[in-house]
Amino acid sequence: MTANDLVLIANAGDVGRGVLDQLRAQDVPVRVLVRHDDDRAAGLRALGAEVVVGDLTRPESVAAALRGVGKMYFAMPVSPDHLLATTVVATVARDCAELDVLVGMSQMTVSQMTATSTAESDQQRLHWLGEQVLNWSGLPVVHIRPTSFLDNPLFTTLAARSIRENGTIALPFGTGRTSPVAVVDVARVVAAVLLDPPPHIGHVYELTGPRSMDMTEMAEEFSRALGRPVSYVDVPLDRWRADVLARAGLPPHTEQHIATMARLHHENRYDRTSDDVERLTGVPAQSVEAFVAAHKDLYLG
Ligand SMILES: NC(=O)c1ccc[n+]([C@@H]2O[C@H](COP(=O)([O-])OP(=O)(O)OC[C@H]3O[C@@H](n4cnc5c(N)ncnc54)[C@H](OP(=O)(O)O)[C@@H]3O)[C@@H](O)[C@H]2O)c1
Repeated sequence: MTANDLVLIANAGDVGRGVLDQLRAQDVPVRVLVRHDDDRAAGLRALGAEVVVGDLTRPESVAAALRGVGKMYFAMPVSPDHLLATTVVATVARDCAELDVLVGMSQMTVSQMTATSTAESDQQRLHWLGEQVLNWSGLPVVHIRPTSFLDNPLFTTLAARSIRENGTIALPFGTGRTSPVAVVDVARVVAAVLLDPPPHIGHVYELTGPRSMDMTEMAEEFSRALGRPVSYVDVPLDRWRADVLARAGLPPHTEQHIATMARLHHENRYDRTSDDVERLTGVPAQSVEAFVAAHKDLYLG
């Protein structure tokens, strides 16, 4: 147990920035690891963070970022380097730091996987393996397993485009049900764990929105939030991959991951609910309707 309250947020992605907001609101000292010292880094400094430049796949920069740190939040973006970064972080944290907690960003699909299952994406497999590495490290680990983010382009930019064009959400999910969780809720959970680690060590938290629904029901929530009719159109997966996904210009690893998410939605693998957001933070997870209402400008332009 260290007496050091300094928190390292690594990395400064969507969740990490939300965690920073939560911790700075409570005057917690925070260091943020960024890859590039740019305008985004200046924004983090303005929020009161100490900013260090580094790369989570490079042991020497992780070691420098961990100096004097007592608590760490670790996430990689969707990347073929996920397992490398996880292994670097675990190895360096064991060697050079004395952490009270290491909060790792994983994925809820891991809850449905085995050591040898094959239906998942490469990214989901890397998350499964990464959790093993962190468990074997003996560090005081907490795994955060969110389902798909509500802020994911599937439910934001893509949905916004088709809603503006023709009042539809066009996805290849069939009648599959889903319960996306807002990034802000994921960040609130991570912050709650960082603020009081002992009761959480060794736990896995599965984060979803408040209810699971099919896409027709989700479109109804969009309609209520936007005050205009929105309907769901089911699109064949192959056509969606060719017409939408392939044109997004994503790296192959990311494209395979999103195509797999779509297929698993169709197979109803995202039909899941958990009350962990409310249990850990005392506030229920945001509904689709509340999220969309709060982001009307994004959907209506
Ligand atoms: N999106 C979803 O629906 C969803 C759902 C469940 C779980 N997750 C998991 O959440 C994680 C992503 O979290 P997030 O959305 O908060 O992150 P994110 O926004 O995707 O992270 C992007 C940030 O990571 C930085 N970065 C990239 N490579 C780096 C490296 N090697 N070292 C240090 N920083 C690096 C980028 O810096 P630069 O821009 O400067 O390069 C950027 O600031 C993924 O593991 C994903 O699987 C996502």
